[in-house]
Amino acid sequence: MKLFLDSADPAEIEQALERGLIEGVTTNPSVLRAATGTSSMTQLKKIARLLGDHPPHLPFSVQVMADSPEETVRQALSVADELAYKSLVIKVSCGWEALRAVHRLARDGFQVNVTACMTTAQGLLAAAAGARYVSFFAGKMSDAGMDPRTVVAQSVPLLEKHGVEVILGSLRRSYDVTELALAGAHVVTVPWRFLRPLAEHPKTAEAIDLFAADFQPLVAGQPG
Ligand code: E4P
Repeated sequence: MKLFLDSADPAEIEQALERGLIEGVTTNPSVLRAATGTSSMTQLKKIARLLGDHPPHLPFSVQVMADSPEETVRQALSVADELAYKSLVIKVSCGWEALRAVHRLARDGFQVNVTACMTTAQGLLAAAAGARYVSFFAGKMSDAGMDPRTVVAQSVPLLEKHGVEVILGSLRRSYDVTELALAGAHVVTVPWRFLRPLAEHPKTAEAIDLFAADFQPLVAGQPG
């Protein structure tokens, strides 16, 4: 299972990169809006530059929003041109009309992440249209009375036959990461606020305090 970071904040992305924790970055218009005091494109360029400085160049999902396939392709070309980032992934929300855009983008050589999926059937259609990634929204499924673990268990074996990686996003708590990994997700995309707590535990802190009290310096020449 891989971790992606669901963030448009370069400082958060850098901290995750420094620790080798993530194998991709996802954004969406809401994540961008929350992160940016500047224009979305300026923010996306900062992230692309940062990822470009950290080979291997991790997949970076950027969402486009349009009513027609023509406009979707136009936006994707414009984003690709502006960001000049080789592992760019174009994110498109799932829908009947959107699948035409997904097919067109895939045919034109874009990697496509079909997002906001809630059912295995949506994932299957996205894969047939040419998606490289399918993003299911765990939290929103739970809100609607669905168990995301069931959708993961059904979707992963079917979609991997198409070479599609199943991403689980829309997390509501840190423990979702473990639960969705156990359910078999290829990727869980984690917001920053849930990532750091995964490294820490009150009992770990207690143990460290005891070690600190008993610690005798190990390096010769240090007082102690
Ligand atoms: C990830 O790809 C999604 O865009 C994101 O996790 C959605 O999260 P939300 O349901 O909290 O908006």
